[in-house]
Amino acid sequence: MLFRRSIGLAALATTALAIFAPAPASAQGELTLYCSVQEEWCRPVAQAFERATGIKVAMTRKSSGETYAQIKAETANPRGDIWWGGTGDPHLQAAEENLTETYKSPKLAELLPWAAKQAEQSKFKTVGIYAGALGFSFNKEQLARKKLPEPKCWADLAKPEYKDEVQVADPNSSGTAYTKVATLVQLFGEAKAFDLMKAMHKNINQYTKSGAAPARAAATGESLIGITFLHDAVTQAVNGAPVQIVAPCEGTGYEIGSMSIIKGARNLENAKKFYDWALTPEMQAIALQAKSYQVPSNKASQVPKESPDLAQIKLIDYDFAKYGSSAERTRLLQKWDAEVRNAPRR
Ligand code: G6P
Repeated sequence: MLFRRSIGLAALATTALAIFAPAPASAQGELTLYCSVQEEWCRPVAQAFERATGIKVAMTRKSSGETYAQIKAETANPRGDIWWGGTGDPHLQAAEENLTETYKSPKLAELLPWAAKQAEQSKFKTVGIYAGALGFSFNKEQLARKKLPEPKCWADLAKPEYKDEVQVADPNSSGTAYTKVATLVQLFGEAKAFDLMKAMHKNINQYTKSGAAPARAAATGESLIGITFLHDAVTQAVNGAPVQIVAPCEGTGYEIGSMSIIKGARNLENAKKFYDWALTPEMQAIALQAKSYQVPSNKASQVPKESPDLAQIKLIDYDFAKYGSSAERTRLLQKWDAEVRNAPRR
């Protein structure tokens, strides 16, 4: 089975701490971190790394597609050192386009098979740091007030009764939304998937920049339904929002959140230090403090009890090699712009 609940081994958690005995206050150098998870998780990660190593971190948070585009635009004069988080497809595209460095971390042996496979598949230019399944959530109070039926399937999101009630990100900027495009293509075949997205387009109230924003919109009731990774909706539920989380009836895709060292990194040694540290259980445990409920990639990391159980969700065998390839991602995004984004809304 691809995803099984793993049990954390506390013993392993202590070893990585030892690697990073607090550094003296002297300048240990710098690290420019491009972060593509939620800001609430990026910040404590940057701070914990500074505390553990004495290395000063300059962190920028941007969505996965945006970060990929930025790294590509900066190839002549790379400004970032490491790209941590965000969906795997744009990391794989960056690897194929030689925008990221080969690195075989000594920590690779500690990873679950799906995370290690991401490294092998990219010739060690990226690696899996977490996983999460795609789906949607809806606001239960709004649904009752509007007397609408519960959406259960991807196909439901295209029904006319949900006009203006669905929010999702733009797949150009957001890895989440690209995962949705690739998932629907794999589930239904390309022609049917694009018909479905064109029909859904009539129901979309906003294409956001960031992938998790629609979960917040569903939580506040600003949008009835938000398409996101399920763990992003769990964060809202844990915060007390009246949301129902749905794993779509037809099945769904998932992400392998990834990390890559940027080619030409000015602080290469520090980027490697961050990389090794980011694969340890105690670093991965920072997610829980930040209410981020992905499945972590180290075998000894504790899976938060709030995390959607991927073994219980009907997951497709997502073809990362294909949908993370430069040609396919570029083609699908162009097609989405031409046929979905510009489709009539009435
Ligand atoms: C959220 C999720 C992550 C995901 C990321 C992608 O932060 O919690 O699991 O990797 O979104 O962000 P994006 O804005 O590119 O969709």
